[in-house]
Amino acid sequence: MTDRLTILRPDDWHLHLRDGEMLKAVLPETARHFARAIIMPNLVPPVVTAADAADYRDRIMWAKPKNSDFKPLMTLYLTEDTQVRDLRAAAEIGLITAVKLYPAGATTNSQSGVRDFSKVTRVLENMAQIGLPLCVHGEVTDNDIDIFDREAVFIDRVLDPIRRDIPGLRVVMEHITTSDGADYVREGGDDIAATITTHHLVINRNHILAGGIKPHYYCLPVAKREEHRVALRKAATSGDPSYFLGTDSAPHTDAAKLQPCGCAGCFTATNTLSILAHVFEEEDALDRLEGFTSRHGPAFYRLPVNEDTITLEKGEPVEYPAQIETGDGPVTLFDPGFPLHWHVRV
Ligand code: NCD
Ligand code: ZN
Repeated sequence: MTDRLTILRPDDWHLHLRDGEMLKAVLPETARHFARAIIMPNLVPPVVTAADAADYRDRIMWAKPKNSDFKPLMTLYLTEDTQVRDLRAAAEIGLITAVKLYPAGATTNSQSGVRDFSKVTRVLENMAQIGLPLCVHGEVTDNDIDIFDREAVFIDRVLDPIRRDIPGLRVVMEHITTSDGADYVREGGDDIAATITTHHLVINRNHILAGGIKPHYYCLPVAKREEHRVALRKAATSGDPSYFLGTDSAPHTDAAKLQPCGCAGCFTATNTLSILAHVFEEEDALDRLEGFTSRHGPAFYRLPVNEDTITLEKGEPVEYPAQIETGDGPVTLFDPGFPLHWHVRV
């Protein structure tokens, strides 16, 4: 039985760091274990221009713990007004690593997202030319589409047509939650990959809804049926480089989550690696954890892997706090519902 595992230092390919007091409180939670992260741009107002991205990167660097060499990989929030020239300049100087597509209304702070996909064709064509990845929130927003079907319908109605129209566009389907997403990416060739979150490997929709409503398990895309969770586990632990970790750690204060219309998002930065080691061990795939957390992401993004390592050690239960304190109020940590025994040594 393995009880000690050293892997290349992980990266998080989908992370919400927020701003201000929240940024200060949550950034150390990620920087403790992860070397780099793709930083989501859904602030209010969103990070839409190169200048916005440069300012946000500066604020992150200021908030960073002094002894940390954590590197934020910045993204731009795609709008119908995004300027090709601004985007290309930001990519050329290495200021941005990807561009994020939110269908308008799909999730937290997505009001400025895209309504008419034909309006962003020219931007996407330019991204295909320079190989700049598009990170996609893959859900349709139509009221007549059931929320549990929105990912599968998005693939057919939006994502596949875009990829056919713009060959060579490199796409990361973010936080996939269905076997449809996993299958589409597996069969989609070298220009598409997917991130998978920690929480979607652990919870299904019963965890949110059965035996009382659990707002801390509510996120978008919402967790689906058990068969989908099983498919995601299979994908994540398969060793297929199309899949890599994007925690989608999305902090909201308890006050914002625990109300009649609560916010979507699970905060998993702090305990993600202990949970993942548990999941991969359960799937008898500990030898594939490094691929998922540390190798497949850099390969898709055409970046070097990290040089240093972390060690995971199995022992007495790990004590994680139930909440972290922030200047905006407490944020509850994702509770996997089982004890964690894998300690992270950095
Ligand atoms: C994210 C957030 O809070 O910003 N929420 C979530 O439920 N995942 C937005 C997102 O990634 O959809
Ligand atoms: Zn997200």
